[in-house]
Amino acid sequence: MVQLLYASTLGSSMLTSEEIEKILHKSRSNNPRWNITGILLYRSQIFIQLLEGDEQHVNSLYDKIKQDKRHSNVTEIARIHGGQRLFSGWDMAFKELDDSFDLKVINEILSWNSRLSRSPSISNLQILKMLSYFREQIDGNMVIEHQED
Ligand SMILES: Cc1cc2nc3c(=O)[nH]c(=O)nc-3n(C[C@H](O)[C@H](O)[C@H](O)COP(=O)(O)O)c2cc1C
Repeated sequence: MVQLLYASTLGSSMLTSEEIEKILHKSRSNNPRWNITGILLYRSQIFIQLLEGDEQHVNSLYDKIKQDKRHSNVTEIARIHGGQRLFSGWDMAFKELDDSFDLKVINEILSWNSRLSRSPSISNLQILKMLSYFREQIDGNMVIEHQED
């Protein structure tokens, strides 16, 4: 099992909510086939996505995602082996980053100098803790966020 976290940026134009819906719909129909789970975090100019699953399947999905023209500067932030899934049961959870705490969390994961990269001082454990925080938030919003099968 691997947990791969990457970040990417959007071009000058923002994606519409319909386009985000399309990405989620596709993810939720494809990911169960490969037993991939995770979360997509979104904010006007940025995506952060966690992909969890068998490394071979995660790698081949990540290769496809890297080619996707809807985003660019796809940058691997962390690749964590031997952990436990944080998003089991979620073919792809989604959260639009909205409040200042969300952004603080993201700023701790990423450093924003000239391009995206991982904050030098952050450990994998801290990254997993931050992702757990999003997991808890989503659990608290089951009614709106939980996908129907
Ligand atoms: C930010 C972002 C996240 C994506 N996440 C997934 C994903 O989790 N699973 C998936 O199958 N496709 C995802 N996609 C779409 C893929 O890039 C690609 O279009 C899709 O996997 C093609 O599926 P198909 O081969 O069934 O047509 C994502 C695209 C973007 C831009």
